[in-house]
Amino acid sequence: MRREIRTFHDLQALSDAAAQEIVEIANNAVASRGRFALALAGGSTPKRTYELLATEYRDDIDWGRTVIVFGDERFVPAGDPRNNYMMARGALIDRVPIPAASVHAIPTDAASIAEAADRYETGLRAALGEDEHTVDVALLGVGADGHTASLFPETPALLERSRWVTAVAAPTHIQPTVPRITTTFPFLDRARIVLFLVSGADKRGVVGEILSSAPAARRYPAAMVAPAGPVIWMIDRSALPERSNA
Ligand code: 6PG
Repeated sequence: MRREIRTFHDLQALSDAAAQEIVEIANNAVASRGRFALALAGGSTPKRTYELLATEYRDDIDWGRTVIVFGDERFVPAGDPRNNYMMARGALIDRVPIPAASVHAIPTDAASIAEAADRYETGLRAALGEDEHTVDVALLGVGADGHTASLFPETPALLERSRWVTAVAAPTHIQPTVPRITTTFPFLDRARIVLFLVSGADKRGVVGEILSSAPAARRYPAAMVAPAGPVIWMIDRSALPERSNA
């Protein structure tokens, strides 16, 4: 794993740089393999990046050769404002000419969260294939507790070594406190590139520990993501520890 840290003045600058990075990854992927596979992160930070991909950079990506999957989902109906797919539809998916069959949302209409995870496991493998890599880039966020996707500290999902998708009980300390479906380390660690998008003062503590490679940071799932390729941390000033804010 090669870790790279890029810092930005604010979320707009971070989002613009992230959109440009994704465009570059997309064009390299299509040129060399004829397809661009992108795993979207949920939460709020990536929304501006998605909006820029749908506007400023819309014509710079071959959406007809793009596949979109999701790193995790809250187990709420697709129309629920807490649903990551709903956020991504509004910010990106409904605004670019990507074939509907190339967008693989996590099925929150399943009868149970276990069924949702099983269906997504099957669908993800069918959509991406099972060669050495899963996606060309996996976008991830990090929570104030060091979680990423819906991989929360000290939970069973961290121990999954073969499935790409698993069900997660509702966290009690992180909003929204609803059950989740998440991709796992076996999935994330096979991304060609991982891009963390980090903004918000509530992340300062974990960002400081992770960037300083403090031994204590090893307990954070965000610090456990370890693909063979690059892990790029894109962090805005609000999420940087005070001393590095100068
Ligand atoms: C989710 C995300 C989650 C998110 C972090 C950061 O479904 O909520 O997958 O891992 O990336 O909690 O969230 P913000 O970007 O909203 O701070």
